Amino acid sequence: MDIFIDTADLDQIREAYSWGIVDGVTTNPSLIKKAADQLRASGDDTTISGYIEKILDVARGTPVSLEVLGGTADELYEQGMTLFDRFNGVAENVVVKIPVNPDMGDGSESWEGLKAIKRLAANGVHINTTLVFTPEQALLAAKAGSTYVSPFAGRIDDAIRKANGGDFDKMAYFPAGGDGESHDNGIHSGVELIASCVDVLDNAGSDCKVLAASLRNPQQVRECALMGAQVATIPFGVLRGMIEHPQTMDGMKAFTNDVVPEYRAVFE
Ligand code: E4P
Repeated sequence: MDIFIDTADLDQIREAYSWGIVDGVTTNPSLIKKAADQLRASGDDTTISGYIEKILDVARGTPVSLEVLGGTADELYEQGMTLFDRFNGVAENVVVKIPVNPDMGDGSESWEGLKAIKRLAANGVHINTTLVFTPEQALLAAKAGSTYVSPFAGRIDDAIRKANGGDFDKMAYFPAGGDGESHDNGIHSGVELIASCVDVLDNAGSDCKVLAASLRNPQQVRECALMGAQVATIPFGVLRGMIEHPQTMDGMKAFTNDVVPEYRAVFE
């Protein structure tokens, strides 16, 4: 499974790439806003365009998803081409991220995202279809020519937990099998959503990759890998959590305490 980092924070991207295990970056407007707010708070006057160029450069050789906004196929297509034309020259790694269905309940048409994907893909632009909450959406996006589909595991878990009532910690582990009868459109958890998308695209013979998104904890990442997701996009904190275990730390301390001088001398 490829590992993408889910952030627009340049320091986090630089740090994660220095570990040598990152295969790409995903951003969204909320993550860009967070990064922009941090820039301004620190007195940095780098433009957002300049900042995006830096991200593309750090991630050189690996894909970076940049998201479009808009409610019509024409808007999404124009914005996708603008992102591609404006930024792909930096490191040839731009992936345009498009909502599968841009309808915001304001009368815009549900199919506009798919139409835009089809047109952009025909121009050779790689697409990451986002805000996917059903395997059906994933199938349609794949058929439209998407390179990746991004089912949002954590947000489905949120919706199911919300439907159950009561408070919950959205970063806390939610069982892959769900927590009872609650489901969203027959899907009992975010991990089940990922698994269904993998199976549906596999059965369809599609080469579109399932990019597990909205991941909140290491166990969820593991379960997505077990379900056969081709990619997981992971926030920096979750990525760091994946390498930590108290027994590893205790083991290091014990091994270090046991080193005899003759063994230490081997390294000198
Ligand atoms: C990435 O492609 C998504 O935009 C992101 O994973 C959403 O995560 P969130 O649900 O934690 O905001």
